[in-house]
Amino acid sequence: MAEVLPVRLYGDPVLRRKARPVQDFSDLEELAENMVETMFEYGGVGLAAPQVGLSRRLFVAAEYELEEEEAEADEEERPRSVLRNLYVMVNPRITYREGTQVGTEGCLSIPGVYSDDVPRNLQIRVEYQDVTGAPRTLEAEGYLARVIQHELDHLEGVLFLDRIPAELRRAFLEEHRAELAEMQRKAKAFLRELQTERG
Ligand code: NI
Repeated sequence: MAEVLPVRLYGDPVLRRKARPVQDFSDLEELAENMVETMFEYGGVGLAAPQVGLSRRLFVAAEYELEEEEAEADEEERPRSVLRNLYVMVNPRITYREGTQVGTEGCLSIPGVYSDDVPRNLQIRVEYQDVTGAPRTLEAEGYLARVIQHELDHLEGVLFLDRIPAELRRAFLEEHRAELAEMQRKAKAFLRELQTERG
């Protein structure tokens, strides 16, 4: 039975750390299952290991049918439709990138905060390993390419907030100042609790 893991919030230092390459694949199948379960539970389209407190280079991502059209539809008209693909990417690297797209992003570690001004490459090629360590290559464009770039950023300690163009970022951070401060407070409280549990 897969387990839903606690998602680390903005302000948790693990989100700002560069994650370490995965060398030991022995626990990855179980970890990936738990990360997928957690992603579904929170309604995300991707989740990186640092978001569950693990500084390891892997993430999971879901691709839905009609995701791009849905992303533009109203919130209530957005049925979580057919799952097309589920990806587990270990030690991923982008080996080709082309074009630009500007679009909307949020993050399970920054709940309720969205920006419409996040620039990404339009097309990418990503080389990675699957849960068994076998090498894989995927070419992605549009929304899936955006998701992969967002998750890969997590492995570098980079958040979508950092990608908002500088001239817009100051106003954006000011607009969300109270929410972000509350997340930082919760992140600290969670870490204190974790310390206490571990004695
Ligand atoms: Ni995220």
